[in-house]
Amino acid sequence: MNDKRTSDKHDTTRITFVGAGNMARSLINGLIRSGHDPAGICASDPSPEQRKLIEALGVTTYAANVPAVAGADVIVAAVKPQVLRAVLTSLTNRDETQLLISVAAGVPIGSLEAWTSAGQPIVRCMPNTPALLGVGVTALYANTNVTADQHATAHHILEAAGKVLWVSDEADLDVVTAVSGSGPAYFFYLMEAMVEEAVELGLERETALFLTLETAYGAACMARNGDPSPATLRGNVTSPGGTTERALSILDSENVSGSVRLAVAGAARRAQELAEEFGD
Ligand SMILES: NC(=O)c1ccc[n+]([C@@H]2O[C@H](COP(=O)([O-])OP(=O)(O)OC[C@H]3O[C@@H](n4cnc5c(N)ncnc54)[C@H](OP(=O)(O)O)[C@@H]3O)[C@@H](O)[C@H]2O)c1
Repeated sequence: MNDKRTSDKHDTTRITFVGAGNMARSLINGLIRSGHDPAGICASDPSPEQRKLIEALGVTTYAANVPAVAGADVIVAAVKPQVLRAVLTSLTNRDETQLLISVAAGVPIGSLEAWTSAGQPIVRCMPNTPALLGVGVTALYANTNVTADQHATAHHILEAAGKVLWVSDEADLDVVTAVSGSGPAYFFYLMEAMVEEAVELGLERETALFLTLETAYGAACMARNGDPSPATLRGNVTSPGGTTERALSILDSENVSGSVRLAVAGAARRAQELAEEFGD
């Protein structure tokens, strides 16, 4: 979490969120938690319910996008990919000094450039769902118009949702989508299977779920230290002739590793297709 980050000059940047749904709300929450002045943030959304949730954080809201982006240093486009084109092309008062950050999954930077002004500094992001709790991971890609200061500002804003990393090749975002974007679902899938079999073998569902979740959390904490690697950690808990060895030999004989790799490759291909569909 980012609670301990010290205030810096980015905390006074004027940021407008266009689209005030789940992603915008978690970013705004994180920014305020890390010291950003709520008076420097505003948001626009046609939904009165969404606006009310944002206003509860001390942030000014608008029903219309055009007045909301006036005077902003940064515009964060946090609408669904399907409406992004209409939203960006309708921002007639936008200017090319404003940094545009898009969190919309799959919309390529070339399309964002086509829907804005020549020279617009743009950062395209790929966050993931744990961002909603401030424990996400977001990959960012900047076009060549983004200045060093704007780069730091985008980093600061997305850090409100968890860890941040930059990629220098936009195509890498398709792989990022397949790993961290869709990744939470792969772990949920494994959890579901573990719970179902534990119930089948006699545990109460609540107990099975508790054990599975705490184990996933504990394994992630161990692996997150980075040393030793997941492969070594797995070796360390696999005694010859033991229960883990039996389980892993069944996973190997079913080629589960190969299936996971196929799944990640399939997701990356789908990300590429979606970029073509959402783009121009
Ligand atoms: N949630 C995640 O975990 C996640 C992860 C990665 C990427 N993203 C990306 O983040 C973006 C937002 O996702 P989300 O989960 O926050 O979606 P969301 O909760 O549906 O929020 C989008 C908001 O935009 C509003 N909206 C619709 N049309 C608008 C317009 N013309 N102008 C301004 N606002 C408008 C929607 O209002 P209505 O509900 O009234 O339509 C809604 O409140 C998406 O592009 C998604 O790809 C999300």
